[in-house]
Amino acid sequence: MSGHDKTSIALGIDIGGSGIKGAPVDLTTGAFAADRVRIPTPQPSTPAAVARTVAQVVGSFDLPADTPVGVTFPAVVQHGVARSAANVDVSWIGTNIELLLSEALGHPVVAVNDADAAGYGEVLYGAARGSRGVTLMTTLGTGIGTALIVAGVLVPNFELGHLTIDGYDAETRASDAVRDRENLSWEQWAERLQRYYGVLEDLLWPDLIVVGGGVSKNYEKFLPLLHLRAPIVPAQLRNAAGIVGAAALAAQGAASGPVPADPRTSA
Ligand code: BGC
Repeated sequence: MSGHDKTSIALGIDIGGSGIKGAPVDLTTGAFAADRVRIPTPQPSTPAAVARTVAQVVGSFDLPADTPVGVTFPAVVQHGVARSAANVDVSWIGTNIELLLSEALGHPVVAVNDADAAGYGEVLYGAARGSRGVTLMTTLGTGIGTALIVAGVLVPNFELGHLTIDGYDAETRASDAVRDRENLSWEQWAERLQRYYGVLEDLLWPDLIVVGGGVSKNYEKFLPLLHLRAPIVPAQLRNAAGIVGAAALAAQGAASGPVPADPRTSA
């Protein structure tokens, strides 16, 4: 890591259903400061097993112990604690991810929802860079992740992938996994996305909608089929967005100290 001021480096880790990926991030540019490392997610993906794999990923980089580590997790993460488990092992619910991983790694850890991290990464360094308005990030993958960033401030855990639309949990109709499973054409899938984004737009009136997830590399196939009020654009950081956003949030968290679990009781 020579040539980098250590204060501008944080490590981002993306915990996904199939892989655990990590890279040190240069926070002045949002670029990876070393090649990304990926290790398959252990099965079953229990907290203890995942913590060991995350430690392996972190151990592959030579980083000072005070380097902040930002971790993305595909569920509601409230003050470091997993509160839901739509597409991950249910044993995560109630787990304090920050405590678990800071003990396993010996680094300060900030844990955030995966879409929140990706949206924040896009606002800092990607498709929504410099946006001062309301940015809605959506990730289309196994599920649908959403993030709302208002004037640069992340409003955590929006979870609009689970909106009930026409009697369905939205992600069970419009995620990329559903497109694949049901063998939908781009046009058929775009009809479902049109309905989904139309409802989101009526609720939130975003200034910009960013679409991430692996399928966003094929954005030309489906984004031009959508007719929305706000511009809808592909994510620029692609699958690096979560790692980069989590690293940035970790650096900020480390600078401002832990967030009180219950703001009403904090002095
Ligand atoms: C989860 C979200 C997550 C999204 C993408 C949804 O099923 O509820 O927390 O952000 O999947 O992984």
